Amino acid sequence: SAAQKDGFDWFMRKEIHEQPRALADTLLGRYATDGSLTLDEIRIATSELRSIQRIVIIGCGTAHYAGMVAKYAIEHWTRIPCEVELASEFRYRDPIVGPQTLVVAISQSGETADTLMAIRHAREQGSKVLAICNTNGSTIPRESDAVIYTHAGPEIGVASTKGFLTQVLACYLLGLYLAQVKSTKFGEEIVAIMHELETMPELVQEVLDNQQQVLELAADFADEPSVLFLGRHVGFPVALEGALKLKELAYIHAEGFAAGELKHGPIAVIDQDLPVFVVVPPRGRDMLHDKVVSNIQEIRARGARTIVLAEQDDEAVEQYADVLIRLPKVQTLLQPLVATVPLQIFACELATQKGHDVDQPRNLAKSVTVE
Ligand code: G6P
Repeated sequence: SAAQKDGFDWFMRKEIHEQPRALADTLLGRYATDGSLTLDEIRIATSELRSIQRIVIIGCGTAHYAGMVAKYAIEHWTRIPCEVELASEFRYRDPIVGPQTLVVAISQSGETADTLMAIRHAREQGSKVLAICNTNGSTIPRESDAVIYTHAGPEIGVASTKGFLTQVLACYLLGLYLAQVKSTKFGEEIVAIMHELETMPELVQEVLDNQQQVLELAADFADEPSVLFLGRHVGFPVALEGALKLKELAYIHAEGFAAGELKHGPIAVIDQDLPVFVVVPPRGRDMLHDKVVSNIQEIRARGARTIVLAEQDDEAVEQYADVLIRLPKVQTLLQPLVATVPLQIFACELATQKGHDVDQPRNLAKSVTVE
């Protein structure tokens, strides 16, 4: 009923709008009185956490993309080698895991069969398994050694939205906590990143308050047969997630690519008939931003329409963007929390304009409980 949807027409729209609160709830109570980061729910002894040599993150669908974002952050902050893999691929390739591997299983529902089978396999090999999950008491956390719960509240829409954002946030918390345990980052650095994380609910709210342009853009896409999404670094999984949302909801063929791969294939399909979304990294000391800006030029030179997501006052992108979607300023590693939201809104709006049921898209299930 409308009441359950808080006055929204679809659960998905309601859940997109709940993201600031979901992030705030997932951040709640993470500071100990001495200013350090606490993750009480990790019931793995500190000595054991210190002995971790490798992290393997597994998940399916959107949760797998959250894991891709996590890899960049966790490896950068902790210096622990970190891999991410589709849960459905993990067990069948006889992976090398053991007592010094921490397996992190990400699952909104906690019931996805592929992820469950993968953690069973990991534990049989002697690995510790940490679940990142949104559903209290579900099977995956019950069969794990520890669990970090995301506090998104029930997610009804089949396509994950607030589930994704809170998974990404929980992975950041895990990375910072491991960095603290291993002392690869100083206390003040962790506090500074935590402070930036605490502004995220507000920044995501800003994105939600400025969605008019994205809503209008959707109307132009009703007849597009195909859309490309490009991103680099953590913007790459954001691009994959943008493409997945479009497939799931609008039933439009969409692909996400790493922008650096443009010349290795995708550029061959670019012409005036293929719109391209580009997630531009914040300007920083590395050259990522400039490299993605030259990708946009290359796309434009082939006549494609460019829809560019870039931070406030990034003037370098203006002349190459047919549509420019502004994002709040954040550090690169945290950008997925703000950059994903316009893509969710875009897919939801386009799908509803086409008359699709965005809460229960055709052929999809909220939780895939068979392998
Ligand atoms: C299904 C859902 C997706 C979800 C994936 C993983 O395919 O339609 O939205 O990302 O399962 O679900 P999980 O509950 O394990 O995060």
